[in-house]
Parts: sequence; structure tokens; C-alpha cells
Amino acid sequence: MLAAPSKPCHVTIVHRHPPSKLYSEEEMVDNICSSSSDEDIKSTNHNTEIEYKHDDENLQSEEFEETPLYAAILTYLSYAILCLFGWLRDFLRDSHIEKKRGALDPNATLGFVPLYQSYESFYTRNMYTRVRDIFNRPIASVPGAQFELTERISDDYNWTYRYTGKTINAINLGSYNYLGFAEKSGPCATDAINAIKTFGVGNCNSRIELGTQRYHVELERLLADFLHVESSIAFGMGFATNALNLPALASKGDLILSDEMNHVSLILGMRLSGATYQTFAHNDMKDLEKKLRAAIVHGHPRTNRPWKKIIIVVEGVYSMEGSICRLPELMQLKKKYKAYLYMDEAHSIGAMGKQGRGIVDYFGVDANEVDILMGTFTKSFGSAGGYIAGKKSLIDHIRVTSHANTYASSMSAPLVQQIMSSLKLLKCPEGKRRICQLADNTRYFRQKLVDMGFIVFGNKNSPVVPMLIYMPARVTRFNREMLRRGVAVVTVGFPATKLLDARVRFCISAAHTRQMLDTALMAIDEVGTDISLRYSTRHKSRRLREL
Ligand SMILES: Cc1ncc(COP(=O)(O)O)c(C=O)c1O
Repeated sequence: MLAAPSKPCHVTIVHRHPPSKLYSEEEMVDNICSSSSDEDIKSTNHNTEIEYKHDDENLQSEEFEETPLYAAILTYLSYAILCLFGWLRDFLRDSHIEKKRGALDPNATLGFVPLYQSYESFYTRNMYTRVRDIFNRPIASVPGAQFELTERISDDYNWTYRYTGKTINAINLGSYNYLGFAEKSGPCATDAINAIKTFGVGNCNSRIELGTQRYHVELERLLADFLHVESSIAFGMGFATNALNLPALASKGDLILSDEMNHVSLILGMRLSGATYQTFAHNDMKDLEKKLRAAIVHGHPRTNRPWKKIIIVVEGVYSMEGSICRLPELMQLKKKYKAYLYMDEAHSIGAMGKQGRGIVDYFGVDANEVDILMGTFTKSFGSAGGYIAGKKSLIDHIRVTSHANTYASSMSAPLVQQIMSSLKLLKCPEGKRRICQLADNTRYFRQKLVDMGFIVFGNKNSPVVPMLIYMPARVTRFNREMLRRGVAVVTVGFPATKLLDARVRFCISAAHTRQMLDTALMAIDEVGTDISLRYSTRHKSRRLREL
């Protein structure tokens, strides 16, 4: 008797489930809009009547007050003194009088060439360590408008830290949470949690190898719709979106003209691409035109052959300067010289424009005319990842040639869901309220700082608000004193800025209430008075209570 045939090995079981409710768009928008009247959102207690206002005449007007001479001299003097002490300490260490600390490579003692030399930099060794407590502060909550910082204490002048187990509650003026979507409750967080319940967290593969889920496709469609372009592609990391996609677009024989203030992810992408790159002065359209013309007249400097193509790379809002790219003029130049434009909207998507569509929205430029639109989900959307958007042919090309798409693991469901839900929320009254609130908070905060006589850089509509401090000792003091008053800030200095231009970089959020901003302004007023930060010669110095 023949044995009953065993089941075939290759059985494709097709489950004919109805499409998951989670991603039916109309339902989602309805759900999100109705849940946006939730307690969670209402608890932010903002004025819902705010209108989106911009002074249309002055979209491009920016202020970059020059450094006062005495501040420049004192700053150079401070660094000179720090260097003197640094050399003295190095001498003491080399003479074995002072103990060497820092990470030492254990392999070096076994006769290997050192694998790493983390103790190598003079700046790190002698300057950064002194003030390390104001950097890399760990946090212990969602990075909302008010958050918890982990308390830590150093018993050895910042070489090591002891964690006390306590947290410090502070107003957060440092996170890129422009629209306030960094939340642990509310419709976006609830949707993200539900997405984990349905899809888990990881996909365990890249987009081209079993890593594409329908929510990836849905996100890309929603995003293209939101940006008013033909197509888009999303990646798991904003930094890698620049670093790994520029090489898919430029190569040897191409010229990239890059704004001198561009982010390091763009610089890495240009380097990896193998193209020649040159910088032009920050937001200086005359300098850019000079370089474009020279590139076309002279071609490649060695062979004089014409460049295969020229790509101009800029950011929408510059994250250290608070300035906004001059998009209308860039459009004219790119058309005149037949160059391509790559615009990084990491800090402007969601945060700029009436509909939160970024710098194209702010200037009323057709998004389809910008060749390559890049942005991140890490800031306004309170998630993680990045995107490229533009013509379908561009996105098809990137889909097959970008290492970030073909080799990196695909985005996780909760991250995608957080972005989709916030994109959908932006279409509802609650989303519009956030956009208006951010614009209003930004103008209020900036104006008060200017009226108090501080030097504030950038465009008055930019939610990135750099305030100049200059001297390294004052940077440290400002940071520590602000935290003592319950306000956490991010201070930045060399090498992230020019040596002279150390600053505090405030990031304004739609989630900041007027009361929070006033508390922060009061603290800035007090600390600014104590350590003499009112440097402006263009604007009169005044105390907050006089305004
Ligand atoms: C202009 C710009 N582009 C890209 C990135 C990288 O984005 P992500 O933090 O999402 O990796 C940043 C990060 O701050 C940025 O400022």
C-alpha cells in the first residue's frame, strides 16, 4: 500500500486579511483629528486662536551683528591663557609629575601601534575636560518642553561621574522638538504603541530583502503628498540619508558647491561621493554666483574639461546660525547656470511655512522645482530617520543605488507610525495650531532677547535661536547657572563654531507655554546681567522688567 502523500514542502499560505485598519488614511485622519481634542493635547493649554503670521516683506532679513572688539580680544586672551595652562599641564604629565588620565590604548603596551588615541587632542585634554559637565548631559524622560535630566556629580574634575539616582526637572530649551511631537501620550504615541503590537519593533532586513512593510510604502506616499512632490523614499537615519545618498547622486567629474555652514552629514556625503567640492560663503549668493560662473568658464582645474554636473548643497534652516537659505535667489542661480539644488530641510520641515512644509512653503516656491529635497524625522516629527523627496525618476534611481536603502535595515514600525500620525495631525486644526504656536513662540522669544540687548543671530522666524556668549568661561557659567534656575540649554563652542563665536543655541517648541518662555527669559535676564552678556551695540540694553 502506498503511503499517503506527505504535504508538499513549498506551500504558500496566503492569508487574505482585510487591510489593517491602522493605515486606512481617511479613518486615520478622522481618528487623529478627533483624538487631537484629547486631554493630552488640550493639556498643553495654548491659545487656539493664534494666526500664522510672517512679515512677507522680510522673509529673508537676518541679523548677524559683528563681534564687539573688546569681546574678541577677551575671548582670544581667554583661549591664550587656557593654552598656557594646557602646555604647563602637558609638561607636568610628560615629566610624570601629574598623573596621566583618559582612555589609554592597552595594545600600545604590547608593542602595537596605538589603535586609537583618544587622549591625543590638546583641546580635549586640557579644555573640554574642564567643562565636560555641561555637555552630553543624560536625560531621563521624553524630551518634551519640560523634562528630567539625570543628576551626576564628579569628584575628580570631570574625568568621571557618579550618578546620584535623582533627576533634575527643567524647562527644555535644547531639543529639536519644534512641533512638540516628542510626547509619551496622545494620538501619535498611542498609534506608535499600537504599531508595535501589530508589527513588533524590528524588521530584521533591508528594504530590498523582505524588509519592506506596507507602512513603509504608506509613509512614502503620505510624505510625497504632504510635500507636494511626485515621490519620496524614507531611511532609518537622517545623518545617513545625507552621508549615503550624496554618493548615489554625485561622483568623480562632478562639482558640488556647498554652503560653508553645511552640516557634517552633508560634508561626509560629499567626501564619500568622490566628487570635487568647494564651499561658498554662508548664504552669500554673490560668492555662489562667482563660483558657479568660474566653474562653467574654467571647468575642471586640471583638465579644463567641463564638469559633468554641478550640484548646489544648502540647508533650509542652518542649525548653528539660525539663518534661512535664500531659496528664491538660489532658484534663479540654479536655473541660470543649469545646476542642481540639494536642500536639507532637517530643521525646517514641519517648523517653517504655513502648512509646515518647510522652506519651499515659507517662500511659496514650487517644491517640484527643487531637484532634491532632503529632511529628517528626528526633529519636528519626534521620531527618527530621514527622507529624500522629488521627481519619481530621482527616487527610483535612489531606491536602487543608495546604500542606505539596499543595505541598511528598514525603519521600525513605531517610528514610521509616529511620523505618519504626526503628518496626519498636521492636516487637522491641532496640527495647524502647533505650526502657528511655534511661529508665535519663536517671534516672542527672539524679540525679547533682542530687546534686552543680547546679540542674537539669524532670521527672526527661525526656531533655532543662537545667542552669542563668546568667552569660554562665560559659556560654562551660563550653562550651569541656567540649569540652577531650572532651564536646560545647549551651549556650543569651538570646533562646532568658529573660535570666537561660542554661543547658546535655544530651540523653540510649539509645546513651550508662554509661562515657560517667560521663566526662561527671566533666567537669561538674570544670568546675562551677572556675567555681562549684553554685547549688542545695535540694540539698547534693558532688563526684562523694563520691556
Ligand atoms: C542639517 C542636518 N542634517 C542632517 C542631520 C542628521 O539628522 P539625524 O539627527 O536625524 O540623524 C542633522 C542633525 O542634527 C542636521 O542638523
